[in-house]
Parts: sequence; C-alpha cells; structure tokens
Amino acid sequence: MSPAGKPTYQVVKIPGDGIGPEIVEASLTVLAAAEERFGFDIEWTEVKAGGIAIDAYGEAVRDEDLERMLESDAVFLGAVGGPKWDDPAATVRPEQGLLRIRKVLGLYANLRPVSVEPSLKESSPLRADLIEGVDMMIVRELTGGIYFGARKEAFDGPNGREAYDTMSYTEPEVRRIVDLAFRLAQGRRKKLTSVDKANVLANSRLWRAVVEEVAPAYPDVELEHRLVDSTAMSLITKPASFDVIVTGNMFGDILSDEASVLAGSLGMLPSASLGERTTAHGTTGMYEPIHGSSPAKTGLDIANPTATILSAAMMLRWSLGQAEAATAIENAVRTTLDGGTRTRDLMGSEGEARGWRSVGTAAFAEAVAAQLRSGQVAQSTGDRRE
Ligand code: NAD
Ligand code: IPM
Ligand code: MN
Repeated sequence: MSPAGKPTYQVVKIPGDGIGPEIVEASLTVLAAAEERFGFDIEWTEVKAGGIAIDAYGEAVRDEDLERMLESDAVFLGAVGGPKWDDPAATVRPEQGLLRIRKVLGLYANLRPVSVEPSLKESSPLRADLIEGVDMMIVRELTGGIYFGARKEAFDGPNGREAYDTMSYTEPEVRRIVDLAFRLAQGRRKKLTSVDKANVLANSRLWRAVVEEVAPAYPDVELEHRLVDSTAMSLITKPASFDVIVTGNMFGDILSDEASVLAGSLGMLPSASLGERTTAHGTTGMYEPIHGSSPAKTGLDIANPTATILSAAMMLRWSLGQAEAATAIENAVRTTLDGGTRTRDLMGSEGEARGWRSVGTAAFAEAVAAQLRSGQVAQSTGDRRE
C-alpha cells in the first residue's frame, strides 16, 4: 500500500531490443489509464536485457538485475535480439538473457492464449468458417527440454564439424506443468491435449507416461495424446477443436507461432510465464508478447502493440490481483478493434475498402487507453477465459 492507501506494485520493465521499447511504451500508456481508473499504482524499475545489455555491460542480463526481478511482483518484457547480435560465432547472445531470466526466476509455465477477435476474422489468411470459435490455451513448458539440455557448440568430430543439443525431461518437470494444464482445463472446456513425439523420442515417452499418471486426479477432464507433427496440421484444419494444449519447450515455441496465424497476426498473442513464487497479490511471473523484436519494423511506429497490451492484462490478472482491470483492458482492445482502428499488420489488402483506419503503434495504444478512460467498456462482458 502507498501512503495514500492505494495498492502499489513493484514491476521490473525490460524494453529490450528492436520494437521492444515501442511496444512497452505503448502498453504503459494503457496501464496508466487502468491505474487511474481502478485506483492502483505500479512502481517501475527499468532493467536492460538482451542486445542492449550486451552493448552496455558485455552480458545479456546482469546478476544484480536478476536480483531485482526476484524481489519484484512481476516482470514486463518487450523483446530481445536482432541482427546486430546475430553473429553465429558470438559467445554472448541476447536470447541467453531471456533464457536465464526464465531459469533463474523458475518460470516453468508459459501460458499462451489464442483466440480470434470476431472483428479480425477477415485478417487471418484462413477461411472465416475455419477459425470460428477458436479459443485455446497453449501451455508450454519453459525451463526444461532441449533449450536447457547438455549441448556442445560446433567442434571437430571424426566426420568433420559437429554440434549437439540434448532433449531431456525429468518426472517432476513434467508433472508440475501437466498438473497446471489439467487445472486450467478444469476452468475452461475441460479438454486437454498433450502433445509429444512419443513415436520417436524417449523423453516424449516419459512425458506421456507421466501425463497418464497425473490424469486420474482430474476425471472431469477429457485427455488426448497427440503427436506434434499431426497437431501442427490440425491447428490449421480444425483449430476450434482445441481447448488446453500442454507440451514441451520447443514444440510449444513452434506451435504457438503457428497458432498466431489464426489470430490474424503474430502481433496479437500475449503470454504469461509463471513460477512457484507467490506474493500477497498473486503468482509472480514475466509477461511478454510471444513474438520477437521484429527488426524490419523497428522505429517506424508500425508494430502492433496488442500482444504486449494483452500481456499487461495477464500481468494484472495473474500477478497483481487486478482481475477487473485486466478484463477492462481486454475489452478496450476488443472495442478498439471492433471500431475498425488497427495497426497495419491487420489491414490486409481490403482494409481501406472496408473502412478500417490504419494507425501507428502509439496511436493504437492511445485509442485503447481512451476506451478505458471512457469507462464504457465496464458494461461489456469479456469472456477471455484463462
Ligand atoms: P519476430 O517475431 O520478431 O518476427 C516475425 C514476423 O512477425 C516478422 O515479419 C515481424 O515483422 C512480424 N511481427 C512480429 N511482431 C510483430 C508486431 N508486434 N507487429 C507487427 N508485426 C510483427 O521473429 P524473428 O524475425 O524470427 O526474430 C527477430 C529477433 O527476435 C531474433 O533475434 C529472435 O531471436 C528474437 N526473438 C525474441 C523473442 C523474445 O524476446 N521473446 C521472441 C521471438 C524472437
Ligand atoms: C519465444 C522466443 C524465445 C524462445 C527465444 C527468443 C529464446 O522465440 O519467447 O517464443 O525460443 O523461447
Ligand atoms: Mn518463439
């Protein structure tokens, strides 16, 4: 609580690289409107991570900054990486910073909700009837699997240069993410799809066995096991059939970018990365769009800030105990899009003809903030389920 009696939260912001600073700034405009309307304060601490931290400190994230994150109520991140730091021979890489934050903060569960705003049906390259009713939650394991297994960078082997990464999962790692996925399914349409490659990979067979062991505790949830290759196809051919999908780190990374096509743009999908630490307000976590730093769109005020704004809403719901404000932000985004105001990535070839208004990153955020301030969205009923 602040002296004025307002709830006050400590949040670390990491603008990062590329479009990161622009989309974070845009989201702060929306958050400021939410703070004003719902009567709470966010105290921000800015931290450098990614390429910008490599330039400033020679490492992708500093220990002292990880300490700050560990003491905060939440972390809010734009994106990291870009061509400047892409040299394959580099020993320090921006993405290492992100992976280190996830690992050190113990953020094992990456929640990536995918839904289709009705007014964006025409923005997807898929037929409108195919994406009707899409509402899924991809639960991606985030601190294990091939991202964190033993690896060796290129070395001279008996048959020339060689390099390897290994994919392994332990029973507790699988159990905790699957448990969470079952609980999320209980609060939704009660269907869980576990995705693996058990026909080939040993760690997938362990994954599948552990899912089977956890399942009896959730008799009300319908469980199916699917292989990742055919799931990639079904995500496009019958996306509305999925409710909660639980999968390992790399499969979840790939499937969620694929699923963004359903929503009309990669700039639409938010995420929450949750761990086990809780505060008086909720579970601590990191919130970031699923997309990257989009180098080609950097500095042009054309990036879509929606994914980041919706990540801010997830932060309010999961970490800061401000569920009402979260729903108000989601509704304000919806109302803004419904009104035909959208960033360029959602305009398609016929946007102008349909009467949509193409706006920049900052103007889109300002339109969402204006909706929030107007208070009209208080009456509308959002049903973005988590
Ligand atoms: P990307 O997600 O940055 O871009 C993929 C495509 O989507 C591009 O055409 C881009 O212009 C578009 N796009 C992405 N976000 C958008 C937005 N908000 N609005 C409009 N269009 C958007 O992926 P990439 O090009 O493969 O990677 C670029 C860099 O980002 C790499 O260095 C990669 O490592 C990094 N990356 C970081 C994160 C993260 O920080 N969490 C995630 C993914 C990729
Ligand atoms: C994501 C990104 C990251 C990942 C990269 C930048 C390390 O693609 O958050 O989806 O692969 O997890
Ligand atoms: Mn990714």
